[in-house]
Amino acid sequence: MRLPCGIQRVQSMLTVGFCLLGIVGCAPPAKQNYEPSAQVAKLTPENQARIQKILARQCGSPASPKLLGDRLMSPAHLKRGSEVYRQYCVQCHGVTGDGNGPQAQYLIPKPRDYRRGIFKFTSTTYGSKPLRDDIYRTIKRGVLGTSMPSFDMLPPEDLDAVTDYVLALTHRGELEALLADAVEFEGELNEGAVPGMVETIQGQWKEALANVVNPRTPMPLLTRADAEAGKKIFLSIGCNKCHGDEGRGEVADELPPDIWGNPVKAADITAGMLRGGTDPLDVYRRIEAGINGTPMPAFRSQFEENPGEVWKLVAYVMSVYDMRRDGITPPSVIIKPLPGVKSAEARQSE
Ligand code: HEC
Ligand code: HEC
Repeated sequence: MRLPCGIQRVQSMLTVGFCLLGIVGCAPPAKQNYEPSAQVAKLTPENQARIQKILARQCGSPASPKLLGDRLMSPAHLKRGSEVYRQYCVQCHGVTGDGNGPQAQYLIPKPRDYRRGIFKFTSTTYGSKPLRDDIYRTIKRGVLGTSMPSFDMLPPEDLDAVTDYVLALTHRGELEALLADAVEFEGELNEGAVPGMVETIQGQWKEALANVVNPRTPMPLLTRADAEAGKKIFLSIGCNKCHGDEGRGEVADELPPDIWGNPVKAADITAGMLRGGTDPLDVYRRIEAGINGTPMPAFRSQFEENPGEVWKLVAYVMSVYDMRRDGITPPSVIIKPLPGVKSAEARQSE
């Protein structure tokens, strides 16, 4: 067998392998249990055992998972989620959701480590938790330009179940980190503090509902003139410092790594691969809310005075994102206004 010569090749091989796995339908058995995080593995054996016990009580096991603090969640539904996960996700995202499954070593970017509770492609403000819908959408449509496949072919009930299982892994990771922090700071684990920790985690996820980024002005018809004006803004507010003058991500300065410790490059926005989605609203949200965990900042505050200008940047990105595939000249973009997107005034007067 020839060694793969590029990541594309590796990815397609993985995809084939992954499809075969799907056809044969051999989900690995649930006998593997969750491994402790690196932070927990450094603690004394007694503290490790106590943390494992609390986690098992609150979050269950791969064979019998629980969604932290949610007593109403059906055990059968989560169990199904865990099965779907073992069949389709574990090879990249790992049993615990640490993003370190057996295939992860070959992949760039790395599969998400859910345990920190940080997600990139959200409809919420920078630093906020995502909505459950955001996670569902990512699983359904995949992440364009990365090895994260689309799972559109799964029946809706399996998509739902695996979404809740991803949340179960995420919350388990969040609780594990709080428990380990408590041991590190206080030297011991006070079990009476567990309900407060569960509440903290749940509170952050509930808060996300109030942090949705909605456009502050309705989407206009995006014209070539808007795209040209957007290009000027792109150059004047410093997007080009990371993305380069032509948006191709070719700049000399290295960016700091992402929050998961992996190297990142500013996206080539002309490569036809917007990871967070190609709807104008997706692009709007990427610009106003940034991309969690990466150096891509949120630009919402720069447009307080003139929020409508964000659409010009969107027009620019929309006009170039498929440029390389289409040939050279960006086609003029004429996109209908989104139904249901209201102006700031209309929203305020409600
Ligand atoms: C072939 C490897 C691979 C498989 C299989 C895979 N993923 Fe991923 N997944 C990735 C990669 C890589 C990323 C990171 C993409 C990025 O950072 O842009 C990712 C990211 C994610 C994210 C985070 C998106 C965000 O906003 O941060 C979620 C959620 C996710 N995957 C869920 C799943 C689920 C559920 C399954 C199984 C149904 C699955 N993945 C299967 C590789 C994979
Ligand atoms: C400090 C560096 C930095 C600046 C400044 C910056 N970006 Fe980014 N941008 C990034 C990085 C890094 C990514 C890739 C994030 C990832 O997916 O890992 C990115 C990704 C993107 C994407 C791709 C989103 C997707 O769905 O894949 C778009 C579009 C984008 N940036 C637009 C802009 C615009 C417009 C500006 C200016 C308003 C800007 N960026 C400023 C670093 C930057």
